[in-house]
Amino acid sequence: MKIAVLPGDGIGTEIVAEAVKVLQALDLSFEMESAPVGGAAYEAHGHPLPESTLKLAQQADAVLFGAVGDWKYDKLERALRPEQAILGLRKHMGLFANFRPAICYPELVGASTLKPEVISGLDILIIRELTGDIYFGQPRGRRTAADGHFPGADEAFDTMRYSKPEIERIAHVAFQAARKRSKKVTSVDKANVLETFQFWKDVVTEVHAQYPDVELEHMYVDNAAMQLVRAPKKFDVVVTGNMFGDILSDEASMLTGSIGMLPSASLNASNQGLYEPSHGSAPDIAGKGVANPLATILSAAMMLRFSLNQAQAADRIEAAVKAVLAQGLRTPDIHSEGTTKVGTAEMGAAVVKALR
Ligand code: NAD
Ligand code: IPM
Ligand code: MN
Repeated sequence: MKIAVLPGDGIGTEIVAEAVKVLQALDLSFEMESAPVGGAAYEAHGHPLPESTLKLAQQADAVLFGAVGDWKYDKLERALRPEQAILGLRKHMGLFANFRPAICYPELVGASTLKPEVISGLDILIIRELTGDIYFGQPRGRRTAADGHFPGADEAFDTMRYSKPEIERIAHVAFQAARKRSKKVTSVDKANVLETFQFWKDVVTEVHAQYPDVELEHMYVDNAAMQLVRAPKKFDVVVTGNMFGDILSDEASMLTGSIGMLPSASLNASNQGLYEPSHGSAPDIAGKGVANPLATILSAAMMLRFSLNQAQAADRIEAAVKAVLAQGLRTPDIHSEGTTKVGTAEMGAAVVKALR
């Protein structure tokens, strides 16, 4: 089993180091090979996703990814910005199905900014389409407007688009996931305004005919954003497009206590996967040793389960994470009165100890 390890930038290097220690403590025989990605790769090779890094990722059985990005690269031309690395990996590897499970562990009910009764027992799964939508649609760019409100003015534009097969395959993923859970899918769209999302809704409805045992509900994205904080437990599987999924999953992370708790898996049609926390490189806390490594450690567990056929090892990691939370250990993002504040490395070490 070969794992490509791409730590990236900011807290990416700190949290991936802890996930690697946890994987090494399992006594399974992996081969792990690291490569630079994002700003780190731009510094080393002049490109955020060098050919050698992409090749390593494509040839591996799974990719463990940290995060990319830093404000200091915001002025670079877009093709050279760190974020292009993760977008490029998703596109080149065909990682269209992004799973972002939001689970509120009982110990963290008090860590969220939401009321305990709203989030206690929460276990929802956001399935985000990851290789289409306005993220990748062409054309895009800047031009001088020929028409519109201000003809002759500078303007910018992007293209929102989805093809039928792209919607069909993510809908199948959602209905199949729902069959293993409580058999309910909420498809989130903006069909009341956008052609792309009326089509989304139509295609999801058509695919649903093959899953009569699964309940399908449609919801507009603005309402979904509101319902997620009003009554999140009414959701089970949520399926949506690339941009809505990006936004709703960050919102959902606070239902778990912190964005530092939200893992993710991005899979392609052959179950090859990239595993990363749902958060970014957090430049505001990078280098301070305080980032929460649990989202990354839980992503490594998802990697074992989905791509490496090691469900037992995945269970062990998840149990170890629960154990350290039960011990009262907390990084600052999930710290509350009466618990013990620890740093990134201490948290990683505690998970390793709990594994043993
Ligand atoms: P962010 O997710 O990096 O941080 C948002 C807030 O959450 C910050 O206050 C940060 O300190 C906190 N946070 C995030 N992860 C944490 C953790 N593990 N433990 C404790 N606190 C944590 O989002 P941002 O600040 O909007 O973006 C920063 C950079 O990251 C940007 O360059 C952005 O493009 C990039 N980004 C990358 C990815 C990715 O690599 N997949 C994802 C999101 C953002
Ligand atoms: C995420 C991030 C990325 C996205 C960025 C960094 C390209 O926010 O993984 O959620 O928008 O998909
Ligand atoms: Mn995001």
